[in-house]
Amino acid sequence: MDLADALSRLDVELTRAQAEVPQAADLDGLAGCERTLLGRRAVVTDVHEQIKTFPPVDRPALGKAVGAFKQVVTALVEQRRTELADVERTLRLTRDAVDLTLPPRGRPRGHLHLVTQVQQELEDVFVGLGFRVAEGPEVETDFYNFEALNMPQAHPARSMWDTLYVKLGQPEEVLLRTHTSPVQIRVMQDQRPPIATVMPGRCYRRDTLDARHSPVFHQIEGLVVDRGITFGDLAGTIEAFTRAYFGDGRTARLRPSFFPFTEPSAEFEVTCFMCAGSGCGVCSRTGWLELGGCGMVDPNVFAAVGYDPEEYSGFAFGFGLERMAMTRYGVDHIKAFWDNDLRFLEQF
Ligand code: PHE
Repeated sequence: MDLADALSRLDVELTRAQAEVPQAADLDGLAGCERTLLGRRAVVTDVHEQIKTFPPVDRPALGKAVGAFKQVVTALVEQRRTELADVERTLRLTRDAVDLTLPPRGRPRGHLHLVTQVQQELEDVFVGLGFRVAEGPEVETDFYNFEALNMPQAHPARSMWDTLYVKLGQPEEVLLRTHTSPVQIRVMQDQRPPIATVMPGRCYRRDTLDARHSPVFHQIEGLVVDRGITFGDLAGTIEAFTRAYFGDGRTARLRPSFFPFTEPSAEFEVTCFMCAGSGCGVCSRTGWLELGGCGMVDPNVFAAVGYDPEEYSGFAFGFGLERMAMTRYGVDHIKAFWDNDLRFLEQF
């Protein structure tokens, strides 16, 4: 082996190193490459050991070539080692990753109470029929709840409403309103005819709880005042409303009744939800369920708010919202609305 031979052998090895080292598939493969190129049986080791057999004049050149070869190949190996270590680290991280994300914990969402739903739906129906919506206070004075509604002090008709009084002002002057009718007075004081307004809200009576009565309940009041309003308008409005709210299968009827603030007065009934009119236990075999009262506004009520009864006429009605809901959804006890039992509430 002369100098040229030795250099060309190193050259061949270098080309091989440049081709193989960057291709090493993993750290083990790379270690194998390194052993072949730089180990005890490597070409460069052989050449290195034989330097002493060369003529002294060739030795420096050969020594330099051996050193350069080792340096270049070692650098290639180191570079590939770093690359492979990176790849293996990434692989290991993906393989060993533990997913610590917890499944989402759903937050239960509430919804509007059935009575509120019924109230909003009724408001929508009446707005569709051309009504406006108004509200009044739950704590009222005797004037609005009774006096202006044609029930002077000590009038026997007051006993129709078992009133809860509030300790304010004169005895029996401030009370929890027993119906939504006082809002009629407030609306008429506030506006001039034509009036077409519904007034939903909470009412209170000193009633004993039974299947259809609760000391706290809701009503929706209606009032229409203009020139030439007749009982026919009242009957037509009730019929239109019954169909819009209960559907075509139901019909309404009016039965003569008495309220101090309407004349004539009527009770408003719809066909029974249980038997569809044929008569059953729920409707006491009549086929009809009472929902509220109505009638033509009494001239004395107009006088209390300064309207001329010769010029204007009007009608009013008031329904219980819980009764409406019971009628439409077949709820058999009014208490269900106040128990706040989720098993009941969640059905609506
Ligand atoms: N306010 C009456 C009640 O609560 C119902 C009613 C309203 C009757 C309007 C006639 C006119 O019993």
